[in-house]
Amino acid sequence: MEALDVLKNRRAVRDYTGARVSREVIECLIGAAILAPSAMNLQPWSFAAISGREKVAALGERAKNWLLANLEETSLDPSLRKLIEPPEYRLFHGAPAMVLVLAKSPDIQAAEDCCLAAQNLMLAARDQGLGTCWIGLSRPWFNLTSVKHELKLPEQFEVIAPIILGHPTSWPESHGRKPAEIHWID
Ligand SMILES: Cc1cc2nc3c(=O)[nH]c(=O)nc-3n(C[C@H](O)[C@H](O)[C@H](O)COP(=O)(O)O)c2cc1C
Repeated sequence: MEALDVLKNRRAVRDYTGARVSREVIECLIGAAILAPSAMNLQPWSFAAISGREKVAALGERAKNWLLANLEETSLDPSLRKLIEPPEYRLFHGAPAMVLVLAKSPDIQAAEDCCLAAQNLMLAARDQGLGTCWIGLSRPWFNLTSVKHELKLPEQFEVIAPIILGHPTSWPESHGRKPAEIHWID
């Protein structure tokens, strides 16, 4: 796809077929992620790949339960409780794979760098016909020390972007965008 078409056609995908995403494809997407620019070219990112629909769903269930018990202690909007509370709400939307983009350093600009890497990954996935969705709701749970220990992730790394990934059952319609607000400083 042309670059602009990839931008126009990417969507947050919340319904996936059962098809696996191979390790090679995930490696290729991470290869695109690390092409992102970073402050002073520090490249302060690291990645964790989780594959298998059951594994992703099981983590999602635990993250959801933790969130329901601790939502008010996080910086997330408490009104999100209504969205996630229904028993049928799946935090990871049935995805067969997930990539976490982690900041390796507490450098003030490391989070920005990781967001750019995450966007590259989502766009590269779209180019390959794969859907993605950034799951910010899961970030506080992934950043619990106990969870990082369990997943064998270095405790000092911060999870910035949890991104689910898979083959969409269909491509959602665009949500559209508000017109750009531009302050021309002439
Ligand atoms: C930082 C961030 C956090 C997000 N968190 C969630 C989330 O927890 N769950 C979810 O289903 N979608 C999440 N999304 C997806 C957005 O809802 C989606 O990108 C937005 O509605 C625009 O739709 P589009 O991506 O299809 O253009 C998140 C997106 C971003 C950028």
